Amino acid sequence: MIDLQVKVVKNYAEMSKLAADMVADLLKRKPTSVLGLPTGSTPIGLYEELVKRHQEGLDFSKVTTFNLDEYQGLAADHPASYHYYMEEHLFRHINVPREKINIPDGAAADAIEACRMYEEKIAGVGGIDLMILGIGTNGHIGFNEPKTPFGSTTNLVSLAPATIEANARFFEREEDVPQRALSMGIKSIMNCHKIVLLANGEAKAKAIAAAIQGPVTEALPASVLQLHPDCTFIVDEAAAGDLDNE
Ligand code: F6R
Repeated sequence: MIDLQVKVVKNYAEMSKLAADMVADLLKRKPTSVLGLPTGSTPIGLYEELVKRHQEGLDFSKVTTFNLDEYQGLAADHPASYHYYMEEHLFRHINVPREKINIPDGAAADAIEACRMYEEKIAGVGGIDLMILGIGTNGHIGFNEPKTPFGSTTNLVSLAPATIEANARFFEREEDVPQRALSMGIKSIMNCHKIVLLANGEAKAKAIAAAIQGPVTEALPASVLQLHPDCTFIVDEAAAGDLDNE
């Protein structure tokens, strides 16, 4: 049985607001929530909303966060690192305690060990209450590219050429995009208690249709979410464009 919920909203602003409502509701119900967070273009509006709501009183002082992924080989102060992104878009604007922020360590000398410890740390806080995801045009979630085993946990992964190309906009030259990343695995994502996937724009329409209405297959990583008991897709009209509404 497919439990997936799909909410189609008008545009990017509506998508961001609805996602922020879900985060805010959770934090009001459970101030000690553990959040899983993505980077990229998609969640920027959500983070802006959360910053606004924090200025209006939303409290993050008991929240713990785990980011999905980080490039290997980029120091935290590299402007294209996800550490830097999170600082700029969210963390420096809200009151989440420093020691409760977790991002895979892209500069770790032993990346495999860093991944193992990351997974342990997530388990140590009782798992992630709410994971927010974006989706790649090839259906990736986190940096789990097509063919990633559904049983994967946090690990060192290779980026697909399409992902390197898509992310080149954040670097001076395409050859500067790291080829590898530390990413939570598919199983790590499926273990989260609740998942919300965000997608906007026509470029995501094919991946969204395949994830929601295609077969569950490792060839399209996001399709695994059909098997999650509490997963909501929030997509704008453009990203919903290829869905069959029978
Ligand atoms: C980022 C991440 C990726 C992105 C995806 C979409 O932490 O895990 O899976 O969510 O590549 O990126 P944007 O939002 O830039 O289209």
